[in-house]
Amino acid sequence: MSEAENFQLVRPFSKKCAAVAVPPGSKSVTNRAMVLSALRGGETVLRGALFSRDTEIMSDCLRSLGFVSERDSAARTFRIAPSGKKPEAAKLFVGNAGTVARFASALVATFDGGEFIFDSDDEMKVRPMKGLLEALKEQGSEFEFFEREWSFPFKMSPRGLKGGTLALDASVSSQILSAILMVGAFAKSPLDVVLSGETVSRPFVDMTIKMMESFGFGLDEISKSRFSNFRRIEPSVGEFYDVEPDATAAGYFGALPVVAGGACFIAGLKKDSLQGDSAFFDLLQESGIARVDKLDEGFIVSSETRDISPREFDFKDISDTFPTLAAIAPVLGGKISICGIGHTRRQECDRVSTVAENLRALGTKVDEKEDSLSVYPNPDIAKISGPVEIKTRFDHRMAMSFAVLGCFEGFDSKPRVKIEDPKCVSKTYPNFFDDLDSVRESSEKFRIVAVDGGAAVGKSSVSKACSKTLGYLHVDTGAHYRTLTYGLLEEGILPSDENGVSERLASFTLGTAVENGSARMTLNGRVVPDELIRTKTINSSVSIFAAMQSVRSFVKKYQTSMADFAKSEGFGGLIMEGRDIGNAIFPNADVKIFLCADEATRAARRAKEGISDSISERDKLDSTRKISPLKCAEDAVKIDTSKLSKDEVVARALAEIVKS
Ligand code: C5P
Repeated sequence: MSEAENFQLVRPFSKKCAAVAVPPGSKSVTNRAMVLSALRGGETVLRGALFSRDTEIMSDCLRSLGFVSERDSAARTFRIAPSGKKPEAAKLFVGNAGTVARFASALVATFDGGEFIFDSDDEMKVRPMKGLLEALKEQGSEFEFFEREWSFPFKMSPRGLKGGTLALDASVSSQILSAILMVGAFAKSPLDVVLSGETVSRPFVDMTIKMMESFGFGLDEISKSRFSNFRRIEPSVGEFYDVEPDATAAGYFGALPVVAGGACFIAGLKKDSLQGDSAFFDLLQESGIARVDKLDEGFIVSSETRDISPREFDFKDISDTFPTLAAIAPVLGGKISICGIGHTRRQECDRVSTVAENLRALGTKVDEKEDSLSVYPNPDIAKISGPVEIKTRFDHRMAMSFAVLGCFEGFDSKPRVKIEDPKCVSKTYPNFFDDLDSVRESSEKFRIVAVDGGAAVGKSSVSKACSKTLGYLHVDTGAHYRTLTYGLLEEGILPSDENGVSERLASFTLGTAVENGSARMTLNGRVVPDELIRTKTINSSVSIFAAMQSVRSFVKKYQTSMADFAKSEGFGGLIMEGRDIGNAIFPNADVKIFLCADEATRAARRAKEGISDSISERDKLDSTRKISPLKCAEDAVKIDTSKLSKDEVVARALAEIVKS
């Protein structure tokens, strides 16, 4: 590979983030789901599954053991089903996949008879198997080891699981316990598992137990070291099982809006995630580094102020995600201290010192200790002329974390970082750089967003908040009608005088002024201030003027011209709110959102504003008029805001926008 090919230049975002990320499925969940699908019988389609060496190896093993295991790359599914043939003998290769090595041998132990040859990569031959194989032997299986005792390669002659009390040593790998738990319900007499040592990585055992329940396998946890009453229960999943996206991989897209601004919808993440690393999202939210809203179909992460005060975080339980936070820390306003990470010095690389080295190369001050790292704000990060070389030391997490920092909004779009040996991401996320490119591309798309609804449903506050987050231009078309109403009334034109209205409109000159990200219509060169257009008098006549053909034609041209105006002013998109935006002004808008709320909620909201406004009368006039009446566009997403907080509505609206 030439030197040029061995680096990945990271282009900064030229627009704020506004995109959907679909990270790969979790490896731990995919491989557990495959075994549990095989154990429960019937057909299961695993959606959002990870395709990687380890999951392919699991799939091959299942096929050798008499199951159908079909991969559909386009649909990202594995279909698992019984083939109807149970092999008497098979050769199984487990590579260096710990989950396959442990879970497949436990699965084979449930077979009554046959001879199975297991082999592995050299690395797997020295990884711990003894605790598990001893337990399976005690349960009835026979083993013949070809090289070293209790390690690959070996021949296994299963005789089913006899049950009874089983002393299990899972102190070196929680997968040993997970493997036994998954097959516990197949024991011929009731099984009682008693741990003889401590368990490590408890979150993975919890993941196994929760997934077992989904697939119809129950157990009683008598204490942290004793499990019994293994049984079949009603499964909560049917033919389909949705594999959660990998929470650590998802974390890169959670960090992205902190760096690039805007919002990213991370598809598939679940509120009650099975994965410990999903706590990274809680950390982002609780610390105020980002806003995280957990919706039914995924999380929407949006930028908050970066100006946070100095903070200290313990990453002991989520240490795979510490490089993600450390790499983006220079763009935050306060010193970020991360502790509980000493053990990561012995992972793919010495993560603590490599993160520190890369941050220093980017001109950032870092204090490094054995177990912790403090990163100081670096206001000059935007000025780096780069590209600075990021050392990955073959560690995928270094590559991905610093690629996120490299997205820091650029004014000249010149890369600030180049990632050494980018292919190292293939360990967990082969398509990472492609996915990052599509998120960037989607963020650069100019979107037109129509937000419609009656009076006091929350259109303005939601549209303004979404515009601010995404860097889109906000346009309140209600203010257009109010401004014209003010101008007409000021000149003595009454709502009853339709001819007078058209005549006078011809003498009006419209323009635009931008104030705090919102476009205001100027009338004859000036913005008519809010206190003059939000009065009782205007409230009671605006809808009558707004129903006139002459008024609507007059503003339509102006309103449609706002899209080009927003582009020419460098905004990333346009959010226009009103009554007829989705139906008449921008019928081809990229997203249409229709807000509604019950009467009582709307009246209470208006009362808070302290202006007398008969909203139901206005709504009646607006929705019954002949021209461009207020109505929900067929292709609009309808959100009832009555029982939602403003932030909840904003989160849903942002998700709809970035998904388009
Ligand atoms: O949104 P707001 O309540 O300020 O709108 C005032 C009035 O302007 C509405 O009651 C309606 O009559 C008119 N309007 C309209 N079409 C729009 C926006 C507002 O007819 N797109």
